[in-house]
Amino acid sequence: MKFKDLEFNEFISAADVQKKVAELAGQINHDYRDKTPLFLPILNGSFIFASDLIKQVELPCRVSFVKVSSYAGTASTGQLKSLIGLDESLFNQDIIIVEDIVDTGFTLQRIVEELKSLGTKSVEVVTLLRKQPARDKGVYVKYTGFEIDNEFVLGYGLDYDGLGRNLREIYKADV
Ligand code: IMP
Repeated sequence: MKFKDLEFNEFISAADVQKKVAELAGQINHDYRDKTPLFLPILNGSFIFASDLIKQVELPCRVSFVKVSSYAGTASTGQLKSLIGLDESLFNQDIIIVEDIVDTGFTLQRIVEELKSLGTKSVEVVTLLRKQPARDKGVYVKYTGFEIDNEFVLGYGLDYDGLGRNLREIYKADV
Protein backbone atom coordinates (compact mmCIF):
# COMPACT_ATOMS: atom_id res chain seq x y z
CA MET A 1 0.00 0.00 0.00
CA LYS A 2 1.51 3.31 -1.04
CA PHE A 3 1.11 6.63 0.78
CA LYS A 4 2.93 9.51 -0.86
CA ASP A 5 6.57 8.45 -1.24
CA LEU A 6 6.45 5.42 1.11
CA GLU A 7 5.39 1.80 0.63
CA PHE A 8 3.69 0.19 3.64
CA ASN A 9 3.20 -3.51 4.44
CA GLU A 10 0.77 -5.07 6.89
CA PHE A 11 2.42 -5.50 10.26
CA ILE A 12 -0.35 -6.23 12.81
CA SER A 13 -3.67 -7.63 11.64
CA ALA A 14 -7.01 -6.10 12.64
CA ALA A 15 -7.82 -9.27 14.62
CA ASP A 16 -4.55 -9.08 16.58
CA VAL A 17 -5.14 -5.40 17.32
CA GLN A 18 -8.62 -6.17 18.66
CA LYS A 19 -7.34 -9.06 20.77
CA LYS A 20 -4.73 -6.81 22.34
CA VAL A 21 -7.23 -4.02 22.97
CA ALA A 22 -9.47 -6.51 24.80
CA GLU A 23 -6.51 -7.64 26.95
CA LEU A 24 -5.64 -4.05 27.87
CA ALA A 25 -9.27 -3.29 28.76
CA GLY A 26 -9.33 -6.45 30.90
CA GLN A 27 -6.27 -5.30 32.86
CA ILE A 28 -7.78 -1.85 33.41
CA ASN A 29 -11.12 -3.37 34.50
CA HIS A 30 -9.23 -5.41 37.06
CA ASP A 31 -6.86 -2.72 38.34
CA TYR A 32 -9.48 0.05 38.63
CA ARG A 33 -12.34 -2.10 39.92
CA ASP A 34 -13.26 0.20 42.82
CA LYS A 35 -12.41 3.44 41.02
CA THR A 36 -13.92 5.87 38.55
CA PRO A 37 -11.05 6.67 36.20
CA LEU A 38 -10.87 9.65 33.90
CA PHE A 39 -9.53 8.68 30.47
CA LEU A 40 -7.56 11.37 28.65
CA PRO A 41 -7.01 10.24 25.05
CA ILE A 42 -4.43 12.37 23.26
CA LEU A 43 -5.70 13.60 19.88
CA ASN A 44 -5.46 12.98 17.02
CA GLY A 45 -3.76 9.60 16.84
CA SER A 46 -5.48 7.83 19.73
CA PHE A 47 -9.11 8.40 18.72
CA ILE A 48 -9.73 4.92 17.28
CA PHE A 49 -7.79 3.04 19.94
CA ALA A 50 -9.48 5.05 22.70
CA SER A 51 -12.92 4.35 21.25
CA ASP A 52 -12.38 0.58 21.00
CA LEU A 53 -10.69 0.39 24.40
CA ILE A 54 -13.22 2.44 26.34
CA LYS A 55 -16.14 0.47 24.86
CA GLN A 56 -14.72 -2.54 26.69
CA VAL A 57 -14.21 -0.80 30.00
CA GLU A 58 -16.86 -2.02 32.41
CA LEU A 59 -16.36 0.61 35.09
CA PRO A 60 -17.96 3.95 35.79
CA CYS A 61 -15.57 6.29 33.98
CA ARG A 62 -15.22 9.67 32.31
CA VAL A 63 -13.56 10.58 29.04
CA SER A 64 -12.05 13.89 27.99
CA PHE A 65 -10.12 14.20 24.73
CA VAL A 66 -7.11 16.49 24.90
CA LYS A 67 -4.56 17.81 22.47
CA VAL A 68 -0.91 18.60 22.81
CA SER A 69 0.07 22.06 21.73
CA SER A 70 3.66 22.76 20.97
CA TYR A 71 5.40 26.07 21.20
CA ALA A 72 8.96 26.92 20.43
CA GLY A 73 11.25 26.40 23.36
CA THR A 74 14.91 27.17 23.53
CA ALA A 75 17.04 25.73 20.80
CA SER A 76 18.53 23.19 23.17
CA THR A 77 15.26 21.74 24.46
CA GLY A 78 13.45 21.83 21.12
CA GLN A 79 9.67 21.85 21.34
CA LEU A 80 7.99 22.19 24.71
CA LYS A 81 4.52 20.70 24.83
CA SER A 82 1.49 21.48 26.91
CA LEU A 83 -2.04 20.06 27.17
CA ILE A 84 -5.04 21.93 25.78
CA GLY A 85 -8.74 21.13 25.90
CA LEU A 86 -8.95 20.03 29.53
CA ASP A 87 -12.48 20.76 30.65
CA GLU A 88 -12.71 18.46 33.68
CA SER A 89 -11.38 19.10 37.14
CA LEU A 90 -8.46 16.75 37.58
CA PHE A 91 -8.17 17.22 41.30
CA ASN A 92 -8.12 13.87 43.12
CA GLN A 93 -8.87 11.97 39.89
CA ASP A 94 -7.39 8.66 38.75
CA ILE A 95 -6.16 9.62 35.29
CA ILE A 96 -5.45 7.16 32.48
CA ILE A 97 -3.72 8.81 29.52
CA VAL A 98 -4.53 7.02 26.25
CA GLU A 99 -1.77 7.19 23.62
CA ASP A 100 -1.49 5.62 20.19
CA ILE A 101 2.29 5.30 20.26
CA VAL A 102 5.14 6.28 22.52
CA ASP A 103 8.22 6.98 20.45
CA THR A 104 10.83 9.04 22.33
CA GLY A 105 8.38 9.48 25.20
CA PHE A 106 9.18 13.19 25.26
CA THR A 107 5.54 14.23 24.78
CA LEU A 108 4.32 11.80 27.39
CA GLN A 109 6.82 12.74 30.07
CA ARG A 110 5.82 16.39 29.77
CA ILE A 111 2.12 15.54 30.01
CA VAL A 112 2.55 13.28 33.02
CA GLU A 113 4.53 16.00 34.83
CA GLU A 114 1.87 18.58 34.02
CA LEU A 115 -0.97 16.34 35.23
CA LYS A 116 0.79 15.42 38.44
CA SER A 117 1.22 19.10 39.25
CA LEU A 118 -2.58 19.58 39.09
CA GLY A 119 -3.38 17.56 42.22
CA THR A 120 -4.40 14.33 40.51
CA LYS A 121 -4.68 11.20 42.65
CA SER A 122 -2.87 8.95 40.17
CA VAL A 123 -1.63 9.16 36.58
CA GLU A 124 -1.04 6.07 34.45
CA VAL A 125 -0.63 5.54 30.72
CA VAL A 126 -2.07 3.04 28.28
CA THR A 127 -0.48 2.96 24.84
CA LEU A 128 -1.14 0.64 21.95
CA LEU A 129 2.47 0.75 20.72
CA ARG A 130 5.79 1.53 22.29
CA LYS A 131 8.93 2.04 20.23
CA GLN A 132 12.52 1.21 20.94
CA PRO A 133 13.68 4.75 21.94
CA ALA A 134 11.12 4.87 24.79
CA ARG A 135 12.29 1.47 26.03
CA ASP A 136 15.93 2.55 25.87
CA LYS A 137 15.12 5.68 27.86
CA GLY A 138 13.08 3.68 30.39
CA VAL A 139 9.93 5.77 29.87
CA TYR A 140 7.43 4.16 32.24
CA VAL A 141 4.14 3.04 30.72
CA LYS A 142 1.85 0.85 32.82
CA TYR A 143 -0.16 -0.69 29.97
CA THR A 144 1.52 -1.38 26.61
CA GLY A 145 -0.09 -3.27 23.73
CA PHE A 146 2.82 -4.00 21.40
CA GLU A 147 6.54 -3.36 21.82
CA ILE A 148 7.99 -2.54 18.39
CA ASP A 149 11.36 -1.61 16.93
CA ASN A 150 12.22 1.87 15.76
CA GLU A 151 10.08 1.70 12.63
CA PHE A 152 7.47 4.01 11.16
CA VAL A 153 3.92 2.67 11.41
CA LEU A 154 0.51 3.82 10.27
CA GLY A 155 -3.12 2.76 10.49
CA TYR A 156 -5.61 2.38 13.37
CA GLY A 157 -5.45 6.11 14.10
CA LEU A 158 -1.78 6.60 13.24
CA ASP A 159 -0.97 8.68 10.21
CA TYR A 160 1.67 9.51 7.67
CA ASP A 161 1.26 13.18 6.79
CA GLY A 162 -2.40 12.93 7.79
CA LEU A 163 -3.09 9.78 5.77
CA GLY A 164 -3.92 6.23 6.84
CA ARG A 165 -5.74 6.82 10.11
CA ASN A 166 -8.82 4.96 8.90
CA LEU A 167 -7.11 1.61 8.32
CA ARG A 168 -8.12 -1.26 10.62
CA GLU A 169 -4.70 -2.89 10.55
CA ILE A 170 -1.31 -1.45 11.45
CA TYR A 171 1.20 -1.10 8.60
CA LYS A 172 4.93 -0.61 8.66
CA ALA A 173 6.97 1.51 6.25
CA ASP A 174 9.12 -0.49 3.90
CA VAL A 175 12.47 1.33 4.17
P1 IMP B 1 7.16 11.10 21.18
O1 IMP B 1 7.07 12.39 21.92
O2 IMP B 1 8.45 10.98 20.43
O3 IMP B 1 6.93 9.89 22.05
O4 IMP B 1 6.06 11.17 20.02
C1 IMP B 1 4.84 10.56 20.10
C2 IMP B 1 3.92 11.01 18.98
O5 IMP B 1 4.61 11.03 17.70
C3 IMP B 1 2.77 10.02 18.80
O6 IMP B 1 1.67 10.35 19.60
C4 IMP B 1 2.48 10.11 17.31
O7 IMP B 1 1.58 11.15 17.07
C5 IMP B 1 3.81 10.46 16.67
N1 IMP B 1 4.49 9.25 16.14
C6 IMP B 1 5.60 8.68 16.63
N2 IMP B 1 5.95 7.59 15.92
C7 IMP B 1 5.02 7.45 14.93
C8 IMP B 1 4.82 6.47 13.89
O8 IMP B 1 5.57 5.51 13.69
N3 IMP B 1 3.74 6.67 13.08
C9 IMP B 1 2.88 7.71 13.25
N4 IMP B 1 3.02 8.63 14.24
C10 IMP B 1 4.08 8.50 15.08
